[in-house]
Amino acid sequence: MILAPMQGLTEAMFRRVYERCFPGAIALAVSPFLSLTHNISSARSGISREIVEDVLPENNEGSMPVIPQILGREPEEFVALCGALREMGYGEVNWNMGCPVRKVVGKRRGSGLLPHPDLVRQVLDRVVPAIGMRLSVKVRLGLKATDELFALIPVLNDYPLASVTIHPRLGRQQYTGQVDLDTFARALPLIRHPVVYNGDITTAHFARSIRERFPQVADLMLGRGVLYNPLLPLDILQPDRDRTDDPARVRHFIRSLIAEIRTVFPTEQAQIRKTKEYWCLLWKSLPITELQARQVLRQEKLTDVDNLIATLLQ
Ligand SMILES: Cc1cc2nc3c(=O)[nH]c(=O)nc-3n(C[C@H](O)[C@H](O)[C@H](O)COP(=O)(O)O)c2cc1C
Repeated sequence: MILAPMQGLTEAMFRRVYERCFPGAIALAVSPFLSLTHNISSARSGISREIVEDVLPENNEGSMPVIPQILGREPEEFVALCGALREMGYGEVNWNMGCPVRKVVGKRRGSGLLPHPDLVRQVLDRVVPAIGMRLSVKVRLGLKATDELFALIPVLNDYPLASVTIHPRLGRQQYTGQVDLDTFARALPLIRHPVVYNGDITTAHFARSIRERFPQVADLMLGRGVLYNPLLPLDILQPDRDRTDDPARVRHFIRSLIAEIRTVFPTEQAQIRKTKEYWCLLWKSLPITELQARQVLRQEKLTDVDNLIATLLQ
């Protein structure tokens, strides 16, 4: 099982804490995207530390293995960034062709690439022979229409990709509406690479139904489901395990994550903001009401946030 890239959520800090609390439950993570920028690499300074911060080996000690993800379509910068990642020891990068953010799409990045198979081919032509590492891609069904993926598949099939992760929604849907499993079913046999399924896996039951309906799927990628229920990967892997310690393990995970936020983020404001970002999703794994959870979001002082969460975790 693979942890989905989620900007601001499944970053290095989260990956380290998760692996410490649930060792081996998630085999692999794709990092939130590293964005290509002009002059990403200057002869003087190399790749800016800020761009690769999340995947620096020293920030990933104790994490599950990570595949860095790249957002952008500038071949020179792509290759330069891959060079730096290779030096850090990485053997694979993932190319983001799914990001639905309007500004990103407008620049024909992320899911903005999906309607342009020729552009994708131009990038792959330049990048694949030059990066000296494996390349996987993460796509949606299209930006505005599902036929975009079907025009893209022959292009993807022409290159030696490590895998194709499909999130079966359109870019313009963002994260709303149903995942389109029927279109996924039509695309699956046409792709000659291992295919990873990603989207709305929030229960072990749904994960099982995907496995049963699509036995050729190589792996599952889980995103928000892991934050709604940190035990979900274990529920999928070991459905018959002893659950006596489950509530205590969830509480321990949340406490550990909050403790890590305190050490990683320098200011009180940043710590409050980050804690609340996680809390918005993680509270669902606790036996509390939405009303109780919302009270945490109303607190303005760090001590009040901490005290309230401590009470709710008891
Ligand atoms: C807050 C947030 C940030 C995300 N950041 C990224 C990202 O950096 N790269 C990427 O490929 N997908 C990103 N995604 C999409 C997820 O990887 C995933 O495709 C999506 O959440 C659907 O999977 P899920 O239903 O299991 O969460 C993001 C999603 C969310 C909600």
